[in-house]
Amino acid sequence: MSGELSLIDKAKFVAAKRAADMVEDGMRVGLGTGSTAAWLVRCLGERVRDDGLRIKGVPTSSRTAALARDVGIEVMSLDEARWLDLTIDGADEIDGELNLIKGGGGALLQEKIVATASDRMVVIADAGKEVGTLGAFPLPVEMIPFGWQTTQALVEETLISMDVLGRNSSLRMNGDAAFVTDEGNYILDLHLKRIGNARQLALVLNQMPGVVENGLFIDICDTVIVGHGDGRILVRDINEGTVEHEKLDFVESNNLFADLDD
Ligand code: 5RP
Repeated sequence: MSGELSLIDKAKFVAAKRAADMVEDGMRVGLGTGSTAAWLVRCLGERVRDDGLRIKGVPTSSRTAALARDVGIEVMSLDEARWLDLTIDGADEIDGELNLIKGGGGALLQEKIVATASDRMVVIADAGKEVGTLGAFPLPVEMIPFGWQTTQALVEETLISMDVLGRNSSLRMNGDAAFVTDEGNYILDLHLKRIGNARQLALVLNQMPGVVENGLFIDICDTVIVGHGDGRILVRDINEGTVEHEKLDFVESNNLFADLDD
């Protein structure tokens, strides 16, 4: 029930619910990864079940694929879909130009491929994700396991000439072992504190051998939907230059809130 949800979960839910309402019959939709994207998948599952919405979902991780199938969404691969109408995903940080840091959940590679193959990317988030300048959240960089310590040293050395405040990095762990992505790669988290030139950093990182992709999403996101714990929603569109304020009322009996395990 919604009464048991934390304010942050309510904020994520209202953003996800608003985004789910943008999805139209027949669309091919990229499905993001993370706790906010999980709300989106549940909301879309409800529309499939209750309203007969027909969509095809392209998940950005094995976790999202499992959840989408669970809630009754037809799942296909990106190569089957080829091009998507819309991708809806969460983010770790969003700046005023709708540039993002993503990859907190380790799915940045598939997320970037899927978002880039979409007519439109909509990001859903709680208000805590909005920042003036990117970089307080550690920037994830996906790298291949071969020679990863050499890649880490190269990345740290390159950061010396970049406009950033911190230059340390750490291998993402899963208990005692390295965290492994769906593609079998490792994640290096860069503790930069503040990124002065995100566009330049994104380009430089991707030129290094061993680096597969970085979590900076520059000029990819079109619309951000920011939710608040009291149901307020802000919809900001970078192409239209519009900002809309809305409010969503919770429905206490909503069966979306039953059997939550994350
Ligand atoms: C996963 C991501 C997520 O979208 C990001 O970490 C936000 O997650 P959450 O919605 O749980 O806060 O990029 O790789």
